[in-house]
Amino acid sequence: MALLEIRNARREFVTPEGTRLAALDGIDLDIGANEFVTLLGPSGCGKTTLLRAIAGFETLDSGTLALDGNDISTQPPHRRPVNTVFQSYALFSHMTVARNVGYALEVRSVERQVREHAVAEVLEKVGLSGMGTRRPNQLSGGQRQRVALARAIIGKPRLLLLDEPLSALDRNLRQQMQLELKTLQNTLGIAFVFVTHDQEEALTMSDRIVVMRAGKIEQIGSPRQIYRHPKSRFVAEFIGETNLFTVTIDRIDGSHALAHTADGLELILPAGNCKPGGNVQVVLRPADFSISDQGIAATVTKAVYLGSDLHLFVQPTVGGPEISITARDSAQAPQPGSKVHLAYDPAAPHVLETA
Ligand SMILES: Nc1ncnc2c1ncn2[C@@H]1O[C@H](COP(=O)(O)OP(=O)(O)OP(=O)(O)O)[C@@H](O)[C@H]1O
Ligand SMILES: [Mg+2]
Repeated sequence: MALLEIRNARREFVTPEGTRLAALDGIDLDIGANEFVTLLGPSGCGKTTLLRAIAGFETLDSGTLALDGNDISTQPPHRRPVNTVFQSYALFSHMTVARNVGYALEVRSVERQVREHAVAEVLEKVGLSGMGTRRPNQLSGGQRQRVALARAIIGKPRLLLLDEPLSALDRNLRQQMQLELKTLQNTLGIAFVFVTHDQEEALTMSDRIVVMRAGKIEQIGSPRQIYRHPKSRFVAEFIGETNLFTVTIDRIDGSHALAHTADGLELILPAGNCKPGGNVQVVLRPADFSISDQGIAATVTKAVYLGSDLHLFVQPTVGGPEISITARDSAQAPQPGSKVHLAYDPAAPHVLETA
């Protein structure tokens, strides 16, 4: 059984302008006991509303929330074995780190010695041993984020909800914290539901990614499934850079289909459920292409230096939209104006199920 089962969750808001808006429009989702699940989607798609509903800060209009098979929909937030880490850490500035972290235990009149022991234990888990006597304004942004984490896990929740906890940090620190959070989740052995609109973050950290769109779930899958086998154009374009081609199938040749775009660009695809005469949409990622002496004839229009890699934009000679590819940087790497040929493994193109 899943730790948390969400069934047909609905929540409608009436906007100040008087229109009704389904922030959650029939969400079905299971969260496993030791799973790292990321909610990913554009602004306004319902991520925070879903977290708030799980935590109990938001009441569902209909649908159910079950933890270990027991309905928790009517339980107040403090009765649910769930805690939340917010983007704004919301630490008490007049209290020390230790007191911030131990506050929930203090409120519950947990004995001082037990409390101090628990605080020391979680501070160590988040890498803040010895910082207990500082105040929040004597810490860096990353350290404050760790205090917020320590505070959220001290009560040993079964499920930790994190609403864009890393978005205030700079890139390097964010990447470091991504790995640390993932390790912490493993060590604690509890489920994390993490919200982000950073797709790279979602790919790095998650066991499963839930892509949301306008109050609904568009696709659920492992990072690899979501990246390699996006169901729709929306998912393909939301996760990673995408070259999208609309093609007509000319014929099937064994396990491959031969197809062309309206501009006359010819592509080979896995035959899958392609039918001659049918139109399908095809995804090829920048890294699927390599520069070769045969293949799609094209001219490099732009080269963006990324360190060890180059991001190249190339214009196929037959016309149509530019193709974006990645190539290793070297002294021989093509420059804007270079004539090249693009090759790809015929197994690489991914045919979308839906438009
Ligand atoms: N209390 C409210 N009253 C009216 N509308 C609301 C309320 N709370 C949220 N909404 C609307 O519900 C929709 C979903 O909001 P939500 O905060 O869940 O989005 P989100 O996916 O977290 O977005 P972001 O990435 O910007 O944080 C939005 O259109 C929002 O304007
Ligand atoms: Mg939000």
